[in-house]
This record gives sequence, structure tokens and C-alpha cells, in this order.
Amino acid sequence: MNNFLELNNIRKSFTTEKKINVLRGLSRKFKLGKIYAIMGPSGSGKSTLLNLISLIDKPTSGTVKYDKVEINFNHNEKNDLFRSKKIGIIYQENNLLSDFTALENVYFAALSVNNDKKLAISKAEKLLKKIGLSNRLNHFPSQLSGGEAQRVAIARAIINDPQIILADEPTGSLDINTAKDIFKLLKNQKRSDRIIIFATHNRFFAKKADYLLEMRDGGIKSSYA
Ligand SMILES: Nc1ncnc2c1ncn2[C@@H]1O[C@H](COP(=O)(O)OP(=O)(O)OP(=O)(O)O)[C@@H](O)[C@H]1O
Ligand SMILES: [Mg+2]
Repeated sequence: MNNFLELNNIRKSFTTEKKINVLRGLSRKFKLGKIYAIMGPSGSGKSTLLNLISLIDKPTSGTVKYDKVEINFNHNEKNDLFRSKKIGIIYQENNLLSDFTALENVYFAALSVNNDKKLAISKAEKLLKKIGLSNRLNHFPSQLSGGEAQRVAIARAIINDPQIILADEPTGSLDINTAKDIFKLLKNQKRSDRIIIFATHNRFFAKKADYLLEMRDGGIKSSYA
């Protein structure tokens, strides 16, 4: 039914000195309203997979469908707009723009979808306050703790109300208590009209997802709730 995202027979190779086949015929459907954890050894292709889902990179072959419509990976502008509107991305190292404040980092993301600066700023302020950063709005990333920076990254990822949230080891560089807080904040973003997919090396967090996908041999080898 509500398989909003469908990957079909995805292959992805990289050629540097020698060719490596990272994804080898991976197929998977993702339902709205669910949280998916991706686990697998380092190098198994978790980030590669997330980069295809976010349309940042394109598969060597195979198809990505959103809402039954196949993505054309040659339509860069269209795909960039789709990403801005529909996909929120959180990385391990927060990836914030270092020369801009917390508030600016968040409201810039809103501007890429709707060029109304006043509205963007007020939305960003509200969101940052809601997630406990009211006294950090004008701090630069270097002036934030790792946990605070990840909160800003989450605010930036959700400001456009995305249907997909992708997180690549979002708690990977945090101490365990901060990691738990950040994971909780991520998990709280679950909604019936949204898919959340996160890659992690932490089985404790992975088990809290609705589905746990294990990457092995270029595909998803096991998957259980
Ligand atoms: N742009 C690239 N060019 C060449 N090789 C790449 C590129 N991106 C990824 N790879 C290779 O693809 C494989 C999968 O990488 P990927 O980053 O997806 O792994 P991962 O599962 O996310 O690992 P980790 O747990 O360490 O983050 C690795 O062998 C990596 O070296
Ligand atoms: Mg990775």
C-alpha cells in the first residue's frame, strides 16, 4: 500500500584504481509511517545507499521510485528541488555551515523552498526553541557542543516538513547520554506520513526502529521488525 519509496535492483559501482561493486541488485520498499535502521560493517554501503535515496548520487543501474514515479537521475535541478522539499538529511558530523549561526543554518534551508525570509526566520526560531536551543540561536557551530550541533542539524533537516528523514550515523560522534537524547529527538519525528531511515553501528538504537535492515554482500540480507 503506502510504499512511498521503492528501490528496485539497485547496483552501484565505484571505479578508482579498480572497480568495486558496492550495491549488487538491492531491492527494498519503504512504507510511510515507519522507521528503518540500516546496519552493516564499515564499507558495506550504508552511506552509498543513503546517498542514492537522497538523490545526491545516482545508481549504476536499477530504479528509485518515489510515490510510484521513477526518478530520472539526469534531471538534476528537479531532483535538487525534490530533495529540498521532501528530504531532510542528518550526518554524523553535523555538516553545518561554519560561518553562519545556528539560526542562519536552519532558516537558509527553508529559503531554498520558499523565498520568504521573515517567515523562514520565524519558523527556524520556533523550531530551535522547541528543541531546547532558545539561548543558542546566535551561536556559531564552533561555539556549540556536539549534541547542540546535532540538534541544529535535526532542526535544519525538518524545517521543510520532509516526507523522508535520512540520518547517517547521527549519534556516531556523541557520548552515550547525548547520543540517547539525539536519538530520542530523531525518533520523535516519526509521523504517519513520513519515512525515517538511519544508518548506525549501534544495535541498541537499531533495535528501536520498526525494521532493521542488515547490509551484506551488496544487498539487504535480513530485515526484521
Ligand atoms: N565516491 C566514492 N568513490 C570510490 N569509492 C567509494 C566512494 N564512496 C564510497 N566508496 C566505497 O564504497 C564502499 C562503501 O562505502 P560506504 O561509505 O557506503 O560504506 P558504509 O557502510 O557507509 O561504511 P561506514 O560504516 O564506515 O560509514 C567502500 O568500500 C568505499 O570505499
Ligand atoms: Mg557510512
